[in-house]
Amino acid sequence: MLDLPQLITRYEPESGKIIGAPSVTRRLSDLRGCFADTKAFEAALAADNPVLYRVGAVEPGVGAGDLHYGVGLLMPGRIGNEYYMTKGHLHSWRDAAEIYFGLTGEGVMLLEDEASGESRMVPLLPNQAVYVPGHTAHRTMNTGTTPLTYIGVYPAKAGHDYAAIAQKNFRCVVIERNGRPTLVERTQLT
Ligand code: F6R
Ligand code: ZN
Repeated sequence: MLDLPQLITRYEPESGKIIGAPSVTRRLSDLRGCFADTKAFEAALAADNPVLYRVGAVEPGVGAGDLHYGVGLLMPGRIGNEYYMTKGHLHSWRDAAEIYFGLTGEGVMLLEDEASGESRMVPLLPNQAVYVPGHTAHRTMNTGTTPLTYIGVYPAKAGHDYAAIAQKNFRCVVIERNGRPTLVERTQLT
């Protein structure tokens, strides 16, 4: 059915919302267990519980060929020397890939192959797209000083599996070192 509201939406990167679609807001307290520096996390949380990110998503269909998409707004900031980040997830349907399109700001994505643990940090920048293959855990970090905004497009069947990440986190962390985002094995953190 070529129903106009299904065909066209207006997205607002500056608010992390898509008009007429639901959105999810994550505050610092929702990211418990994500940051490596737990002391810095607790100290920051004791002072404030800021919004770290918001994602508005249009999820119309459920068919095998359907697509969903979302707009993300991730604020700048750090906990210790680790950048503000999203929770990160695998897709419940592991084969599901996703494409991220950078809109504004400066960020990186941390990608981790589920089977091998191989990890890669890739830039998420305006006018650039990041292809996230299936079976790949993905997390986004704002490495700049302005809001990072992006769009993600994924199969309707993808789903979100947060449990695996909540249990063992990502193998690597992205920290600010000498003014630059640097990928470090979690076990190598001092
Ligand atoms: C959807 C997707 C993005 C994220 C968003 C927030 O598959 O990857 O829309 O949902 O960047 O990150 P999470 O979901 O990890 O809190
Ligand atoms: Zn995803």
